[in-house]
Amino acid sequence: MDAFGRKIDYLRISITDRCNERCLYCMPEGYKGWENTRDHLTADEILRVVRVAAALGFRKFRLTGGEPLVRHDLLDIVRGMKAIPGVDDVGISTNGTKLAQVGQPLREAGIRGVNVSLDALDPKIYRQITGGDLNLTLAGIRAASAAGFERIKLNCVLMRGVNEGEIWPLVLFAAEHGFPLRFIELMPITTADVLTEKNFLPIGEAMQLLARRDELVSRPDPRIGNGPATYYSLRHTGALIGFIGALTNLHFCDQCNKMRLTADGKIRPCLGNHGELDLRVVLRNGGDDAALRDVFLEALRSKPLEHQFRNQYQPQRPMTAIGG
Ligand code: 5AD
Ligand code: SF4
Repeated sequence: MDAFGRKIDYLRISITDRCNERCLYCMPEGYKGWENTRDHLTADEILRVVRVAAALGFRKFRLTGGEPLVRHDLLDIVRGMKAIPGVDDVGISTNGTKLAQVGQPLREAGIRGVNVSLDALDPKIYRQITGGDLNLTLAGIRAASAAGFERIKLNCVLMRGVNEGEIWPLVLFAAEHGFPLRFIELMPITTADVLTEKNFLPIGEAMQLLARRDELVSRPDPRIGNGPATYYSLRHTGALIGFIGALTNLHFCDQCNKMRLTADGKIRPCLGNHGELDLRVVLRNGGDDAALRDVFLEALRSKPLEHQFRNQYQPQRPMTAIGG
């Protein structure tokens, strides 16, 4: 429990700040990241942290980045995590470009859920947003589908003037494949020019756009698990669509169940708050598990009530260095 009575049992672990794409909302132009791989926690260090977290009651884990699939020892990390008592579920968030190669082995290593970023279905717009090749991502999604993951979800960050015309094509794609799709409000977590008021597209508006094409039917279980999205079923297409109102939903943080571990070994109690606690220094100065546990407990105590995104928050780390 944190200071506000929220049960925190979900740890998102960024295993690298590197990425083979360059999303406008995530990676500042020219971002080099930590050149020195020594800055990143090793697989063994990550597994030690997971053991401590699981003993404290963390049950759900997700690997993020940067792009987690660029890390060479990814499968060792997954297998190691799956062997730790208390680790119920390990998911991964990816841009999908490498799933055609790594999807099947990830499934075999025990990953149950995959979230794939898909911000556009038009190759030019996809490239404009990510710098990458849509075909790789689509091939990755197909491969993930064939690999038999329990859950494949699509994520789309809404950007006015960039991808609002993609909303409906994405819904049709999601309906056709039976993947839940979530529309996410742009959060101010990079320094790129795209993060202006003018690019911000509230989920309310996306819902209105959709309501012109199909009927949004609310569900008895609108949250589906503990995620931040509110889901609707679309009556005609059958699509399952979630909306993540990180900025416009004033109750967004009420049911937060997560903390983050950055690739360089800092615990972030909240995505939208500068506070972070250094686990790496404890790991590398010979701290025992009790010392690591104390850092977690301090992080739980200091987890804020809500994010600071509405208060002219200026990030000190870009998203790629926090973990999506
Ligand atoms: N705003 C909203 N969502 C973001 N993501 C990354 N950066 C941002 C941002 N600035 C989300 C994307 C991606 C996941 C890893 O994190 O949806 O799919
Ligand atoms: Fe890479 Fe994901 Fe960030 Fe895009 S959002 S630059 S794919 S880490």
